[in-house]
This record gives sequence, structure tokens and C-alpha cells, in this order.
Amino acid sequence: MISAQWKKLVNHASLMRDVEMRQLFAEDPIRFKKFSIHSNPLLVDFSKNRIIEQTLELLCRLAEAAEVEEWRDKMFAGEEINNTEHRAVLHTALRNHENTPVSKQVETELARMERLCNKLHRKQWLSYKDTPLKEVVVIGIGGSYLGPKLACEALQHFTQDEINVHFVANVDAHLLDDILAQVSPQDTLFVIISKSFATPETRINAETVAAWLREKSGIRRSVRKQFVAITSNAEAAKSFGIDSDHILNMWDWVGGRYSLWSTVGFPLALQIGMQNFRSLLTGAYAMDKHFQTAPLNNNLPVILALLGIWYINFLKFPHHAVLPYDHRLRSLPSYLQQLDMESNGKSVTRDGKRAGYLTSPIVFGEAGTNGQHAFHQLLHQGGPVVPCDFIGFAKADHEHDGHHEFLLANMLAQSQALMMGRSKKEAIEMLASQNITGQQVRELAPHMTFPGNRPSNTIMCESLTPMTLGALLALYEHKTFVQGVIWNINSFDQMGVELGKTLTNQILPSLQNDKPHTNADCSTHALIDFIRNARK
Ligand code: F6P
Repeated sequence: MISAQWKKLVNHASLMRDVEMRQLFAEDPIRFKKFSIHSNPLLVDFSKNRIIEQTLELLCRLAEAAEVEEWRDKMFAGEEINNTEHRAVLHTALRNHENTPVSKQVETELARMERLCNKLHRKQWLSYKDTPLKEVVVIGIGGSYLGPKLACEALQHFTQDEINVHFVANVDAHLLDDILAQVSPQDTLFVIISKSFATPETRINAETVAAWLREKSGIRRSVRKQFVAITSNAEAAKSFGIDSDHILNMWDWVGGRYSLWSTVGFPLALQIGMQNFRSLLTGAYAMDKHFQTAPLNNNLPVILALLGIWYINFLKFPHHAVLPYDHRLRSLPSYLQQLDMESNGKSVTRDGKRAGYLTSPIVFGEAGTNGQHAFHQLLHQGGPVVPCDFIGFAKADHEHDGHHEFLLANMLAQSQALMMGRSKKEAIEMLASQNITGQQVRELAPHMTFPGNRPSNTIMCESLTPMTLGALLALYEHKTFVQGVIWNINSFDQMGVELGKTLTNQILPSLQNDKPHTNADCSTHALIDFIRNARK
């Protein structure tokens, strides 16, 4: 069934390949109305895509054939859709406190989280010197880092009680040095986020800061007072020396990259307060409801997912640029890199067969307008066509005249330029109106020509709040889910990260102890030698 729909789309793509969006806009004054959805709080304009109504119909049929709605319902019902790890996938239950099989545990943990937040905000959480803690250093990596970091940056303007949150992920201690230079041991709470409590980067960083705190305080048990762990491995956190009252639970039915809504969001709750954290959950819940109830052709995550599949699999545009026109969302590209590429960067189907088609896009991006002065040249005139998501907020949260209008004008201009392009004839006309010779016009015209017809979505919202951020992130989560279903892959494991971890452990002794590494290839050998010699 799915392959019949797939074939229809292959045929349709051959007809659509050269259709010009410019032309589609010229012929249809209500194209925006047809290809946009306003589902509060988000307005998604997908009219600047290489699609016509038939494209969307065929894509929706593909989603039906892949049983997207059935899989969605299985996910929300807590079935073990993570088939390789035999786990349910219930991050949506973290934002729905009404009636899920896990509501009770979720509420209990939120209440514990709230008590700890209040203790900090009321200045009752004291250091080894009995001074109130106000700096927070968070240590975690991957899904135990990207979500909280993104959210803390995005919602900085909701910060309460001057709480400063710093993040350490990389095992490179240059970063740790930078952060430790900014905080004082008697002010700082350390939050270790690790579902497994076994990730080496996090363990090494946590051990180094624990040693730092012990040394600075001269008190061995200072870790008990000033450390929090967020983990599903409470035993390991306890043996690390963390007080059991300071260990917040996470569950195996929440994947790391889907965990911001759980206790992994603790740093954000510390920064913006529990009430605002709950608003984030409410925003995500509103998107969950939309995803569960809107028909496929009016369903935001489904539409974004289908457009992605249209480009990757049928028009063969395998990249995707994420372009938030808001400095506060500067970490969104990295967050979505993990969400998409760790979830769907796979080449075997659920039942272990070779997929034989491309899956996750290669995601990259940058906050506007910075990207315009870096890689947008390629977006406009480079070889590959890169579908883009522009994200912007109508209102700013600063009061500096002129900035926000200029920022948003740039965003709108970029999507327009990508879509419209500039024909050679237009380039010649433009150059001819300048004070240059005919020869110069002819020479410059090819360089000033823009192919255009480059697709983009624009996601707009009134302002950036916990609620709108929640809705935006849940939108992308469900988009990724829908794509995984259509590609017939398990989006919830990440076995592709394992081989590198194993080889690291084989190489490490030869860097630590000069032990020869007998199994390595000659390239790795030579590089080990170079490092050893340089460090002698
Ligand atoms: O990179 C692999 C990974 O397992 C991610 O999926 C996860 O988010 C990250 O490492 C951190 O894992 P943990 O929370 O167990 O430290």
C-alpha cells in the first residue's frame, strides 16, 4: 500500500520538478490561504513550497498508507513502540496530567522538583558556608543538555530571582575552566543530568567539579549539600555522594532528546520558576492535542513532516536549514540536529531490513541575521537546494527602536528572495540601470542571477513565552515522529553512537599510559604517535 503511494509521488515529483513557485503565486492570489495553518499560538506558512494541492493530497495518502494516525495513537497510549529497546515512548504524558498511566509518578516528581525550586528561590538552599546558592552549573550532554540549554536561553527574559544557569557538556575541560572561573564554590548548585549516570563525558566533568568543590570548601560532604542528580540510575548517583533528597527521577519511557518536559527541565524550572515551567508543558500539551485531533491535511506536525519527505525522498533535497530570527533561539539548530538526526539518521527499518531510501535530513542552521553573512550565499546561489524553516516572533522583549522591525524584514526578505530568485533578464535590467558599460553588464549578469524556486516554511508566533516555546518544540518532536513512521524506522533508539564509544575505550589507554594499541589501523597509529610525541 505504501509503495503504491510512494510510486505516485515519484511520478508527481517528475511533473513538479520544474514548476516555478513564482508562477504558482502569480496564478493564485489565495495561495497563502490554501497553504498556511494558524493553530494558536503558531502560524505556519508553507505556501513557499514546491507544491500544489495535489501534492499535499498525495502526501497525505502516503501518511495514511503508513498508518501515521495509528502509530500516533499507539505512542500516546504507551505501547512499546521503541521496539529495539522494548520501551514505551511517553514524553507526551509528561505534559498531560489528566489521565495517563504515568500521571501519578509524573506529578510526584514535579512536586519534588517544585520543592527544590522553592528552596532555591526562597534562599533557603545554603552552601557549606551557609550562604544562599544562586549560581547553577548544569552538567550533562546530548538530550541531557540540549533541551534545557535551549530553553534557558530562549526564556532568559523570564528569569526569576537573579538565578544564573551555566551549562557544561563537552568533556573538554577548557569549557569547565571557563565556567568555574565565573562562579564561586559558596554560591553554586551543581546539577548532574544523566539518564544512565554512566555517560563518560558527564561522569568525568561531574567528578572534576566534585573534586573542585571538596578542595575549595575543605569539606568532603559538600557534594551532598550542593549537588543534584537527575537520573534513572539513583543508585549510581547515591554512590557518587549525592543526597537522595536531591535525586530527581527520570524514566526509561522518556528518551533523552524528548526529555525537556521531565525533571531534565529542572534547570529551566530553577531559572524561570515552576509556574512558568508548567506553562511550557501547557504549550506542548496544546500541540499534542492538535496533533491528535486535526485531520492530516490540517495537522501542523504532519504537514511539516510530509514536506520534509517530499524534499528528501522525491525531489532529492536532503538538507534542512533551521533559521530562527531570534537570538534567544540560537541553540535551536543544535537541538533539532539531535532531534532529527539521532532519531531518524538510520538506514534499517523497524524489522532490521535495509531501508534503501534516505531518511533524516542533514540539519544545520544559525540565528538570523548572522547566517545571512555566512552560509546564505549557498542557500541562494549554491548547487544544492536547501529547504529552510524561518522562525520569528512578531513582538520583541526589548525596547530598542528599529532592531526588531529590521530583523523581521530580513527574515521575510530571505524567504521571498529564495522563492522569487532573480532571472538573468531581471539581472540585466537592473545592471543596465546602473552607470556601467554593456560589457560589464554582460560579465556581471550571471553572477547577479538567482535561481530562486527554493522552498521554505515560515513559522510565526506573537511572542516568545514558555507556552509558545512548548508548542514549537512539540511541533518539531511530532514532525520527527511522523517522518520516522513513514520511513518505517524506530526513531527512539540511537545505536549509531555506540561504536565510537567502544573504540574510544580501546584507544584511551594508549594515550593515558603509553600502552601500544595493537589493533589500530596505520592512520590511527600514526595519530596516536603524534599525540604522544607532542605531549612528551
Ligand atoms: O549520544 C547518545 C546519548 O545516549 C543520547 O541519546 C543521550 O541524550 C546522551 O547520550 C546522554 O545520555 P545520558 O542522559 O544517559 O547521560
